[in-house]
Amino acid sequence: MKDLTPDRATLDPIEIASIDEIRALQLERLKWSVRHAYDNVPMYKERFEAAGVHPDDLQQLSDLAKFPFTYKNDLRDNYPFGLFAVPRDQIRRVHASSGTTGKPTVVGYTETDLSNWADLVARSLRASGVRPGDIVHNAYGYGLFTGGLGAHYGIERLGATVVPVSGGMTERQVTLIQDFEPKAIMVTPSYMLNILEQFHKQGLDPRESSLQVGVFGAEPWTDSMRKEVEDAFDMHAVDIYGLSEIMGPGVANECVETKDGPVIWEDHFLPEIIDPESGEVLPDGELGELVFTTLTKEGLPMIRYRTRDLTRLLPGTARTMRRMEKITGRSDDMIILRGVNVFPTQIEEQVLATGGITAHFQIELYKSGRMDGMRVYVEAAEDSTDEASKTAAARMLTKRIKDVVGVSTEIIVGDPGAVARSQGKAQRVVDNRGKG
Ligand code: DLL
Repeated sequence: MKDLTPDRATLDPIEIASIDEIRALQLERLKWSVRHAYDNVPMYKERFEAAGVHPDDLQQLSDLAKFPFTYKNDLRDNYPFGLFAVPRDQIRRVHASSGTTGKPTVVGYTETDLSNWADLVARSLRASGVRPGDIVHNAYGYGLFTGGLGAHYGIERLGATVVPVSGGMTERQVTLIQDFEPKAIMVTPSYMLNILEQFHKQGLDPRESSLQVGVFGAEPWTDSMRKEVEDAFDMHAVDIYGLSEIMGPGVANECVETKDGPVIWEDHFLPEIIDPESGEVLPDGELGELVFTTLTKEGLPMIRYRTRDLTRLLPGTARTMRRMEKITGRSDDMIILRGVNVFPTQIEEQVLATGGITAHFQIELYKSGRMDGMRVYVEAAEDSTDEASKTAAARMLTKRIKDVVGVSTEIIVGDPGAVARSQGKAQRVVDNRGKG
């Protein structure tokens, strides 16, 4: 793999400013943001008043802990535009979540918001090792999802060349990579596995491809998956994090020279880690729920937004700004199986460590009598499709999950292609406990 470390002279000065400078900027911006929310969004005014706090109470960063949280449901309750803090005609673009349950959540951006977003994705790409003039294959989905367009404008802002492919049509993805020779690819890690599979189907060696770096996010993925993809393509795999409510992709991004967890772009977002039960703020280094306050967002300011993502805050390394540990899961994705907490990423690690099967997997939860059960569907590697190999792989994976994760599972090893493929975010868990 090539060394893609960016030249320090090309970084935004604030990325490597002193901690004091960053904290001073945050405080100034935080005061503006909380005031902006209070003055322009009725929900915030009511909430702050009910909690007995006022924007003037913010004298230092830690005062933020006195303010109430904001939840995903608040966006649903104020559907579609009720939390916008500027007149509707100042909103240049909206995005929305697909909303599998209930109403979708809608987010909106002013012209300045869109420009800041493009800047931060450009910064994220630079941290990933992308340079002006490089070609970037963008396979994040275009449309209401923030991934495609968010990445798109950041690639352009950096001065790179965007190939706006979007998700799907995997054969064509491979053709375009072969023909256009992009240096970088932006895509969900699970969809990258499909692209990898398609390389093999077409008899191509992925290590011979032009790709030098993949910027992967929008879903949890493990360091085992990083290694799998890096080895398969002989390229760097870096982590991009973000969420629509706070902006979209590019809230945080890993540095290619360290790959030690995404750096949070703290000049625009103030992170906190809280105990999800008590709501109490936890010190840096402790595991808890990530909470964000936007510092510059005009259209949709978010004060203490509960992400449901579980991680910890870590000190800066390649940049002054703090990092977050690679996300192991969302509290929403946590499976409680007979009293044991299980995250899909823990299963992913064991699947990747087991020989004779591919990296594709899906978890099914079911009821057997009064007990919950878990099945993991995996598939045999091309050279291990005979019954004896499948049985051996199933045994091995069952044992690994029992030993390391601590739960009993049933493993179903299908033929290659048996597990549903993702086009974007993978659906790792199918919950059939309510059925049958
Ligand atoms: O997924 C934004 C995005 C697009 C990020 C493309 C990166 C790349 P949402 O659809 O609102 O936005 O989903 C946000 O996805 O709260 C996390 O649970 C999860 N997520 C996003 N990035 C990562 C990551 C986009 N790098 C939700 N690692 C977040 C783990 C991630 N989980």
